[in-house]
Amino acid sequence: MCGIIGYIGDKPVSKILINGLKRMEYRGYDSAGISILQDNKIYTIKKKGKVAELEKMVNHEVFHSNYGIAHTRWATHGYPNDINAHPHLDNSGDISIVHNGIIENYSVLKTKLLSDGYSFKSETDTEVLAVFIGSIYEKIKDIETSIRLALREVDGTFGLLVLSKREPEKLIAARRGSPLLLGVGNGEYLVASDASAVIQYTKQVIYLNDNEICTISHDGYSIKTIENEDTEPIIEEIEFDLEHIEKGGFDHFMLKEIFEQPDTIHDAFRGRLLVDEGNVKLGGLNAVIEQLRNTDRIIITACGTSWHSGLVAEYLIESLAGVSVEVEYASEFRYRNPIINKNDIVFAISQSGETADTLAAIKEAKQKGAIVLGIVNVVGSSIARETDAGVYIHAGPEIGVASTKAFTSQLTVFTLIALLIGRMRNLSKWEGQKIAKEITLIPDKIRYILEQKDKIKEIANIYSKVRNFLYLGRGYNFPVALEGALKLKEISYIHAEGYPAAEMKHGPIALIDENMPVVIIATKDEIYDKVFSNIEEVKARKGKIIAIANVGDEKICEVADHVIYIPETLPVLTPLLSVIPLQLLAYYVALDLNCDIDKPRNLAKSVTVE
Ligand code: G6P
Repeated sequence: MCGIIGYIGDKPVSKILINGLKRMEYRGYDSAGISILQDNKIYTIKKKGKVAELEKMVNHEVFHSNYGIAHTRWATHGYPNDINAHPHLDNSGDISIVHNGIIENYSVLKTKLLSDGYSFKSETDTEVLAVFIGSIYEKIKDIETSIRLALREVDGTFGLLVLSKREPEKLIAARRGSPLLLGVGNGEYLVASDASAVIQYTKQVIYLNDNEICTISHDGYSIKTIENEDTEPIIEEIEFDLEHIEKGGFDHFMLKEIFEQPDTIHDAFRGRLLVDEGNVKLGGLNAVIEQLRNTDRIIITACGTSWHSGLVAEYLIESLAGVSVEVEYASEFRYRNPIINKNDIVFAISQSGETADTLAAIKEAKQKGAIVLGIVNVVGSSIARETDAGVYIHAGPEIGVASTKAFTSQLTVFTLIALLIGRMRNLSKWEGQKIAKEITLIPDKIRYILEQKDKIKEIANIYSKVRNFLYLGRGYNFPVALEGALKLKEISYIHAEGYPAAEMKHGPIALIDENMPVVIIATKDEIYDKVFSNIEEVKARKGKIIAIANVGDEKICEVADHVIYIPETLPVLTPLLSVIPLQLLAYYVALDLNCDIDKPRNLAKSVTVE
């Protein structure tokens, strides 16, 4: 979603800001803008549409200033248009702000400001904040204090960056609930909502905490709380390199990330899997190991693709560890009155670590006394910091909006967690060894599937013009069917539904005719015969069958129109393989339709609003 970048240093600022915006394009946005203070004037340029459009306008000006702020906006209050784009100015035109998050009490503030004679150009909550800060500044003539006082009155979330003509050569950043970091370079500082925007310049960063304000000048920075108390900032190092956020020869980040999976899965279990002992070592869970051993119930909460990995985890943990698991959308969990019993453990899954609904669910669970553990990709993210303990999935930056490698890394980590809990309870060493050994073979098995990309592309081209798809799977492969359908609709805008194969007869079967492609995961396990019957039901209604089957399954060719073969593995590990052809299928369908694969319309990579 929205992205913030600011710079103060010794280099011309416009290029750095535009570069930073480009690095954050993957997050999803609909307009972009920039404010640069130069020759005692704030130059604000903002535009609906792509950063490239903004760049053209910025290039028409000659900027020699070396500080400024910029933003990519994903509309919440008001249409995506030039006026609603950030930055927004106060009424004097001397204070410019960019903002991520939502000011929940903006309409109360706006009414008050209107009655005091202030005016507004846009429909945004952010302009209300700009005008509010300006109104306080008129009285006290100190920008940092004005921001601090304004933020004390604000309900909601913000990552905020401010530039003021009254106090030049300075940037002020503040955070509550919306991520913001300070990049500490050599004689230069960057403020950004995303580490990808600063990595080109520095790997040293300070993640701001909620309710902190950071004032940055050419000479240094100071971080205080909104209550004006001192803090002790910790400089951390970004864990990835520039090459990780570049395409590296692939046409799209999504394809690159699909092809990275043999390595990212390996990174998720490396150093953690104890094959000889049939066990697992997860340092991040040491502090809660007794609670995991004794828990009676696990609740998993997440959104989107992460929720699908939670559904697989339910099967995994119940089967290997014998603990009852419930999986719930974070957006639902936060708004009911969930029952949390003593000994319950809540897992929150999130690639970005910033999803607002998941964060709110964590707060609700903590409030009710639960231990909350995070399964997160982005190091230092809000969810990683809000949870009591957890495991990083170490998938590296995921830039494609449609999640791929994060999903399989989440599954890998949950397999490890299920093994860990299982071995403390009833799972035998022999069973543990068998699973651990098989996990180590998964990367090569994925490479085998990736080699079939041309065949999958051919199938995708045959069906790219249809308007509906059905995805079916059972057991471990039911959540994979949901994930396959989600991938297709996210990036190709084709309507797709995922269903447990046996549920087809209770509704979706009515949709099946010769125009309906049905993707069925039919791997060799104890319910293979049942799934085979479901395939025959589709066949009898002339549906087109794309089967995901195990190598050597000849029988399936008799009924399926197309078969994509994946290697055999243990049923508990099947989703790690069966999802790969579905990711590729969605990718190649979207490619054939010429869709904006890495930045699908209306979607955001990191959904930081409700
Ligand atoms: C957005 C993204 C999805 C993602 C979901 C949850 O909707 O477009 O790809 O699965 O958020 O994100 P998280 O970062 O919490 O896993």
